[in-house]
Amino acid sequence: MVPPPQTPYPHLFSPLPLAGRTLRNRICLPATLTNYGRDNLVTDRWRNYLVERARGGTALLVSEIIAVDPEALAQQAIVVGYDGRNDDGFRQTADGVHEAGSCLVGQLWHPGRQQLWHPTRSPNAVSDAPDALSWTVGHVMSDAEIGRVRDAYIAVAARLQACGFAGVELHGAHGYLITQFLSPWSNGRDGAYGGSLAARCRFALEVADGIRAACGGDFVIGLKLPGDEGVDGGIDVAEAERLTAHLTAQGPFDYFAYGQGNFSLSLADHVPDIYYRPGHFLDIHRRMRAAAAGTPVMALGRIGTPELAEQVVAEGYGDLVGMTRAQIADAAFAAKAQRGRAAEIRLSVFDNFCWGEVHMGKPLAEFHNPHLGEAGEHDWTPPPAGARRRVVVVGAGPAGLEAAWVAAARGHAVTLLGAGNAPGGKLQLEAALPGRGDMARVTEHQCGLLERHGVDLQLGQTADAAAVLALQPDAVILATGATLQPPTLDGDASIPGQDGRAYVAAPAASAAPGLAVLYDHDHTAATYGLADLLASRFERLVLLTPRPQLAQEVNYCSAIGVHRRLYAAGVEIVTAHRPVAAANGSLVCENVYTGARRSFAGVDLMVYVTPRRAQDVLASGLAGIETQLVGDCMSPRNLLAAIHESHAAGLAV
Ligand SMILES: Cc1cc2nc3c(=O)[nH]c(=O)nc-3n(C[C@H](O)[C@H](O)[C@H](O)COP(=O)(O)O)c2cc1C
Repeated sequence: MVPPPQTPYPHLFSPLPLAGRTLRNRICLPATLTNYGRDNLVTDRWRNYLVERARGGTALLVSEIIAVDPEALAQQAIVVGYDGRNDDGFRQTADGVHEAGSCLVGQLWHPGRQQLWHPTRSPNAVSDAPDALSWTVGHVMSDAEIGRVRDAYIAVAARLQACGFAGVELHGAHGYLITQFLSPWSNGRDGAYGGSLAARCRFALEVADGIRAACGGDFVIGLKLPGDEGVDGGIDVAEAERLTAHLTAQGPFDYFAYGQGNFSLSLADHVPDIYYRPGHFLDIHRRMRAAAAGTPVMALGRIGTPELAEQVVAEGYGDLVGMTRAQIADAAFAAKAQRGRAAEIRLSVFDNFCWGEVHMGKPLAEFHNPHLGEAGEHDWTPPPAGARRRVVVVGAGPAGLEAAWVAAARGHAVTLLGAGNAPGGKLQLEAALPGRGDMARVTEHQCGLLERHGVDLQLGQTADAAAVLALQPDAVILATGATLQPPTLDGDASIPGQDGRAYVAAPAASAAPGLAVLYDHDHTAATYGLADLLASRFERLVLLTPRPQLAQEVNYCSAIGVHRRLYAAGVEIVTAHRPVAAANGSLVCENVYTGARRSFAGVDLMVYVTPRRAQDVLASGLAGIETQLVGDCMSPRNLLAAIHESHAAGLAV
């Protein structure tokens, strides 16, 4: 027998028996909605997302939500489990995952009372309390209608088994139908399916028992449920323990996974972001593991490094370690960790950009993983260039770093000129803001790649055209970023103004009494990090924005935290206003809808984060040289655009 390869993480890479099979390690990919489906059908990219992570070493893969109920139609990017046209796609996915030595389970899903998912179909509810996100009130199902939905789950499980899936996971977390049954907060029923704990569990158990009867003893049946729903009167940790003990005693489940929060303002807990502690909810998992009395428990929630994952298993927080965002960022997380190459892992920064994309109905994307969902993703390396060229990249922010390492990895001789004393550009500034330090991991990883591929990094160089030409480049990539445009104010100069980036870059100011105004024409998470900083330094902070709502560039979950922090710090939020004039220290603002004016007296500082202007002047001095503009200096956009565009430029040069 071939001895297992040496690994620095022996607990994480120990096998685990599960429903008649052995998982090769403890790493799991929890369900990840990708929106890669089309017309409710499996696509190549849908399959690749799972197969690539299996090839990347993950032992147990849970598919994204698969809709079970033909009467609760799902929006077109969600794959449905009741349509025979998906059989081939399911089969190819299961074969791909299993050939890689991993185990695939399909996540069975029903939205219940939410009408978020289809514009016209009547949502089916357990009782008539409104859904906390969509505010829809569903049709309260009769017991007979509940029986039909139960049978729909069982039929889809049987179909997936016929297509080669090793099992299913019932999605009983995050406030969907099964949570709506389990939780006293959403289950206001009497009778067989509501009231007592046993009655609230009845639906999940009937579904699981039916699947067991249809699919047999070695078909994996998992259940994801809340360990803490985060709402008064809902499933708290003690109730989750009681539910787990009851569900365990009834027997049908092979593992439990715990996702916190539901579709109320506790939804932020289901994807704990950069502001949460690493492994934030692990204590809950340890308690659930005790309640589960030997049924394996999957711990999950902001676990982003192999060290923490190893600790989860070694110290008994969980039998399995679920890592979604960590593996959205890097399909080969498991393989790299196992082989002692953890330093090469492209770490998640948990800012939830990826979640925001799917929540808006877009295909899953991650800003620092340009090959997400492509065939070959898990071991992608840049293809060698036809001929070695001298390439000069100007700008050492995330865009320039990306273009430089890709070009160098292809065999080009690359010089990277950066103006600052350290690489990282605007991300370096963002990482200096309270709670946003992990953003630096993006550029740290890129810097590791620069070093590995031998990029000549020259910092402290505000390069002009002559300096670039002196390097005799065959090609130039400009990634010189953009600058913030100061707002124009009528009146006097009585209010000092500072661009938000300059404010962060300046030496740390001590706490200042008085009033600061933050003019937010940006709405990204970094700007609210700046608001947190200003609120900690000034007695009073007014946050002013021309839009009627805040945080429009922040994903829904992280925006919950943005609002919590701002309100907790006493920040005065003024929406739908723009600053128009300054007079004797008063800032005059205008309502963008009505033109009505109001003033704030005694403003000590106005910091602004405003539309940017591309810094592209260098291009005009490089006539005759092959030059690509990338990122903000092409047109100011977000981090996804900056990195993906620069990556493509590194491949094209
Ligand atoms: C983009 C994205 C899509 C998700 N889709 C699902 C889903 O389809 N079903 C589900 O149960 N959880 C879903 N989740 C939640 C994850 O399964 C997981 O519980 C959560 O991300 C916490 O784990 P992590 O900290 O390792 O990311 C999704 C999370 C993300 C980031």
